[in-house]
Amino acid sequence: MSEEREKIEAVRASFNDEFKPFADLSVDGLTFGAAEELMRDLAALKIRHTGKKSPIAGTMKLVGQVAPEERSAFGQLVQSAEKEIVAAIERAETTLRQFISEARIERERLDVTLPGRRPRVGHLHPITILRQRIEDIFVSMGYAIEDDREIETDHYNFDALNIPEGHPARESQDTFYTTEGFALRSQTSTVQIRAMERRGVPIRIIAPGKVFRRDTPDMTHVPMFHQIEGLCVDKGITMAHLKGTVTEWLKRLFGEDTVTRFRPSYFPFTEPSAEFDFSCFKCRGTGTFEGDRCRPCKGSGWIELGGSGMVHPNVLKGVGVDPQVYSGFAFGFGLERMCALMYSLDDIRLMFDNDVRFLEQFK
Ligand code: DAH
Repeated sequence: MSEEREKIEAVRASFNDEFKPFADLSVDGLTFGAAEELMRDLAALKIRHTGKKSPIAGTMKLVGQVAPEERSAFGQLVQSAEKEIVAAIERAETTLRQFISEARIERERLDVTLPGRRPRVGHLHPITILRQRIEDIFVSMGYAIEDDREIETDHYNFDALNIPEGHPARESQDTFYTTEGFALRSQTSTVQIRAMERRGVPIRIIAPGKVFRRDTPDMTHVPMFHQIEGLCVDKGITMAHLKGTVTEWLKRLFGEDTVTRFRPSYFPFTEPSAEFDFSCFKCRGTGTFEGDRCRPCKGSGWIELGGSGMVHPNVLKGVGVDPQVYSGFAFGFGLERMCALMYSLDDIRLMFDNDVRFLEQFK
């Protein structure tokens, strides 16, 4: 049976040859990727060298050529060769599998003792905080909040507000215009018109929003700032309602002892018109704070806030409301100056510098 024996030896030799990369496999310095590739190669090799169609299984067919008395010895020989092959493959598999599993754990390990990176939590801008406080007050008084466009036609920015051609407010030096001739609204009063057209009367709204004016930035001016407009139109609305409403929301914002004062003024869209002031929130109207001249009110005890008046009949007529039947009041004021006074800021530009060190103080 020497010939058959040789065949078995040949099969074993060819296996050993192919198996070389896995014999005495050392994982020292092996990378995760390389180990995975070896594992794939080993799986292919296993398919080729074990199972019914492998060369070693094929040698079993030679049993017929072997003398009967040698057959059992031959069978044992084949079996032991097969066992050797299977065992060798299993050893390599175990080594690789263990290495891969350890390498994976190592790779996915995370150091729970490392300090975490805390995400920076944002917060509202001081102007937004103030705007929302005022919105809440008006909502509680039955007002709706109107939002509208910042780019307007001259009609809404001026004509409908009874600002005639040639009025100084219409000067193009004061208003930003787009190349198509639209105006960036210079006041939120435009929303009075839009809201009455849309909702009709009676109406009670406030309209907070951005306005734009061609001002060179300095400590008290910025070319974009925020206003809140108020409008109330119904049957029988008088100046008393205006004064009551303005006084009430300022009391709710600055305290029950706050008082207001109205000074005659002029606005094209109201008649009569008045500017309104309120008693200083810091010195409570006394003009002195902790023995010194009070800063926000400059010692006067009053803070000037905005404009107001009874809606001009021309404005009502323009939106199809009969001024014989309906009357109303309107008011408007800026948020930046108010905010600057409340937080003792000397320079309103700070509010638009987006410096987090500044903004973080208003959390
Ligand atoms: N629009 C005015 C301004 O920007 C403020 C104002 C005054 C609004 C009188 C009004 C008003 O509604 O009645 O200076």
